Amino acid sequence: MSQNGTITSYLDENRRFLPSKEFLATAGHTQSEFKHLQKLASGDPLAFWDQMARELQWQHPWTQTLQGEAPFVRWFEGGKINASQSCLDRHAHSWRKNKAAIIWEGEEGEVVTLTYGQLHKEVSEFAALLRSEGVGVGDRVAIYLPLIPQCAVAMLACARIGAIHTVIFAGFSSDSVRDRVHDSQCKMIITADGGRRKGKIIQLKKIVDDALSDIKEECVKTVLVYSHLKIDMAMKAGRDWLVSEKLAQLKNGDQSAASLDASHPLFILYTSGTTGKPKGIIHSTAGYLTQVSATAKWVFDFKDEDIFWCTADVGWITGHSYLVYGPLANGATVFMYEGAPLYPAPDRFWSMIEKHKVTILYTAPTAIRTFMQSGDEHIKKHDLSSLRLLGSVGEPINPKAWMWYHSVVGQDRCPIVDTWWQTETGGIMISPVPTMTATTPGSATYPFPGIDIDIFTQDGKTCEMNDGGYLVVKSPWPGMAQGIWGDNERFLDTYWSKYPSVYYTGDGARRDEHGNFWLMGRVDDVVNVSGHRLGTMEIESALVSHEVVAEAAVVAIDDEITGQALVAFVTLKNDATRDSSLHELLRNHVAQQIGAFAKPKAVRIVEALPKTRSGKIMRRLLRELAQSGQVHGDTTTLEDIGVLQRLKELDQEEA
Ligand code: WTA
Repeated sequence: MSQNGTITSYLDENRRFLPSKEFLATAGHTQSEFKHLQKLASGDPLAFWDQMARELQWQHPWTQTLQGEAPFVRWFEGGKINASQSCLDRHAHSWRKNKAAIIWEGEEGEVVTLTYGQLHKEVSEFAALLRSEGVGVGDRVAIYLPLIPQCAVAMLACARIGAIHTVIFAGFSSDSVRDRVHDSQCKMIITADGGRRKGKIIQLKKIVDDALSDIKEECVKTVLVYSHLKIDMAMKAGRDWLVSEKLAQLKNGDQSAASLDASHPLFILYTSGTTGKPKGIIHSTAGYLTQVSATAKWVFDFKDEDIFWCTADVGWITGHSYLVYGPLANGATVFMYEGAPLYPAPDRFWSMIEKHKVTILYTAPTAIRTFMQSGDEHIKKHDLSSLRLLGSVGEPINPKAWMWYHSVVGQDRCPIVDTWWQTETGGIMISPVPTMTATTPGSATYPFPGIDIDIFTQDGKTCEMNDGGYLVVKSPWPGMAQGIWGDNERFLDTYWSKYPSVYYTGDGARRDEHGNFWLMGRVDDVVNVSGHRLGTMEIESALVSHEVVAEAAVVAIDDEITGQALVAFVTLKNDATRDSSLHELLRNHVAQQIGAFAKPKAVRIVEALPKTRSGKIMRRLLRELAQSGQVHGDTTTLEDIGVLQRLKELDQEEA
């Protein structure tokens, strides 16, 4: 199915797991409550979303639930809302004032807890600071921070004044920061002196300086810097300020929550697509918040006693939706960890779960497979009895990893919610509801109530049972992306042109006899390495930007730990000298252009790339070759069959 080789269709998998008695006995919600919602959603989806939206705090009610035709719809039209009020004010002004909103642990083991009262105060003060720096409604603000509570503070402060945040994952290089800041014309960057990763310090402020030194038009007027590690850094006079000093100078700033239209953009988040240029996905305020709040509540079955740990970084959509907005809208306590999963020892995760009594763990299959490989003994020496629910996100989870997660981490007691969704969908779209759903290892099970998902054939008909096809969404949903920043045409082209008025996800799927959905991987040139979404074209553009490279073709192969891994085939310019350090040089060049997480697993320098007569690189052949060392498919369109032979020989030499 997938052009990238991940065919994860487990046709023989039929084990089914019902929610355990232990889980049901202490669940946050009852089956009958959920059945009631399901019934409402299947009869009248808009009435269902209305009910979900009513759980937020509104400044003025909406007059129309859904206005317009897909894709340019407006949810909750006429309503006025502010996301920071729904996430903070109502909790800070209730008994939750002294409840922990965020419990943070740094890589060195330091712990910081922020109650709803404290978080509300910090966000309000920071919002006033943003205003005093001239940031207003609709202005873009880049956030480039390590995973510290200030991420949430900065995001919610932007939301409070109606500025549109664009969070850039701290693993991105200065070139990537520059491109994103430039594309969305950010007025301000919020960063920190540095962050920690595997015991090393990453100098984030320096990366921002490098990014800005390259931007020709000066869109960024101000850089606000948190002193997180208290390390030395250069500060440019008139542009760079320490947050602590600015806050100390601020008197009587305007901390109020702006009154915003329901469809006011809350944020832009860049994600990879099938071209070399990342897309700035725009999300609305009320629709997005409704979906993430409702899905967080029902999929994670929140109770007030829960400690919810979503291990994603805030730089990805999972961090936006389920580390910040979804849980906080529900008044939940989130646990946030700054560092690397196996640092300083392979039991780091499990010791933190024991120490903080985490009750719900939401992580990615790549992490699960890493833990599986590192050995059960690291888990068994910790008391994980606080855990009651487990979640998975970001890529297909293979039944073997699912079963291990279930039995070793969940000790057969915790349901698993395998949640399918995308940056573009804003929130969870397909997932079990833990109190209700019988789960099967490897299947994300059923669409969330109110979500109209189907699997289409090439010509737009619903696929027969068990036939693989294209996963689509047939009706608008509240969390749907509003567009691509500055590129409406690409938005329409990518998602809305394959089938009229139907959203095309780019994922392949099939549905079994129980109606369970099985995700089968991407059907385009988007790949998923360690749960990070990358476009093969992006890596190719990074490679060809190096002076020695003539052409590059990047393909994904299956990898036991990272899900998929990248192999780059590269041809060199005639005058380039080949030496043994070139492979590493090119891998590092990708790291410098995009970020270390995007480095190909292998770079293979070849004489020529296999092409069709019309000059298209035959990536399918390269993929087969990289995966298995063999090529079985049709090669009749190959222009120079000798190229393939030489690639194969090279393969044998390398083996
Ligand atoms: C993949 C992450 C199978 C899928 C939330 C999708 C999954 C892409 C799952 C979006 C899952 C996400 N099972 N595949 N449970 N969850 N995916 O935008 O290919 O970083 O299109 O959003 O991840 O990645 P993104």
